[in-house]
Amino acid sequence: MTSLMPITPQSPPLPDDAQIIGEDVSHAEAVEALNALSFGPGRFAKSAYKLRRNNPAVLAYNRVCMLNGRLIGAVCFSRIRIGSTPALLLGPLAVHPEFKNKGIGLALMRDGMAAAKANGEALVVLVGDAPYYARAGFVPVPRGQMIMPGPVDYGRLLACELVSGSLEPARGAMRPDPR
Ligand SMILES: CC(C)(COP(=O)(O)OP(=O)(O)OC[C@H]1O[C@@H](n2cnc3c(N)ncnc32)[C@H](O)[C@@H]1OP(=O)(O)O)[C@@H](O)C(=O)NCCC(=O)NCCS
Repeated sequence: MTSLMPITPQSPPLPDDAQIIGEDVSHAEAVEALNALSFGPGRFAKSAYKLRRNNPAVLAYNRVCMLNGRLIGAVCFSRIRIGSTPALLLGPLAVHPEFKNKGIGLALMRDGMAAAKANGEALVVLVGDAPYYARAGFVPVPRGQMIMPGPVDYGRLLACELVSGSLEPARGAMRPDPR
């Protein structure tokens, strides 16, 4: 069973004055600039991006990290279906290089996922580095269970159950689920 992990005593403290808040439309430009800095133009070619195209992010779960009026981190969530099962796709997640390793990435994910869980969402998936995302409760998706809409390293396809037992029935092709 996977579960949303609480912030542990091992989580480093956020920088003084840094705040994790909900994203709103006023943050859009700074979020896009941070993603461009972090991922470059290649981000649009990724299979995960095919699930985000024409699929508006869920602002209620998106989070940004602000430090003295400057946006230094952001995480986005989009709605997808895996077969017929609704789920959230996490990403992009980015923290400005000046502020890495201060717990911001984990804090952004945990805050956004806590809001999603409180709103009844059951499952979050992403494509990313398993050793990092394991810290937020993600586990590898069993090979063959889900099919991305393009080439992907399936060893990097990860899931986190917000509701226990939600991963097993989520099977099949992944597609955008804009609302
Ligand atoms: C990956 C990223 C979001 C991490 O954000 P962050 O705020 O620096 O991370 P945190 O402070 O929450 O966690 C830092 C810890 O995770 C580890 N970590 C960071 N990236 C990791 C990775 N890819 N694999 C394994 N461990 C990683 C760090 O070494 C550090 O470990 P420590 O606590 O033992 O010192 C950030 O480095 C980033 O924006 N990178 C560029 C964009 C990117 O790759 N995004 C993720 C796409 S999969």
